Amino acid sequence: MVKIRWVADGVEVDVPLGTDLRTAAKKVHAPQGDACGGKCACSTCHVYVLKGRELLSEAEEDEEDTLDKGFDVRANSRLGCQTRVVREGVIELEVARESRESFWNEHPEHAPEDWRKKKD
Ligand code: FES
Repeated sequence: MVKIRWVADGVEVDVPLGTDLRTAAKKVHAPQGDACGGKCACSTCHVYVLKGRELLSEAEEDEEDTLDKGFDVRANSRLGCQTRVVREGVIELEVARESRESFWNEHPEHAPEDWRKKKD
């Protein structure tokens, strides 16, 4: 098993090898967006890998092309829907702002009050 932790959100889950980060996030309602449904078309599942990059699948060209359309892309950026765990250990993630806001758009009941007021 692999432990995946969304550090700033205080959420974690144990998943088997082969699980992608989007599926893992959904298991524990981590605030990661997925507007295209995991088809590598939107970049709203954008996360930063804080720990455990070596435990993840290599990024393929499709993922890199889609990430290029994202905001605040960093060296440790990955798309949750395209990134699978391939080795056992602990992975720590941070949800990118675009991903978090996409999640709030999809699940406004989980959005903070001040963000909801700005949207109205
Ligand atoms: S969910 Fe759209 S690119 Fe990952």
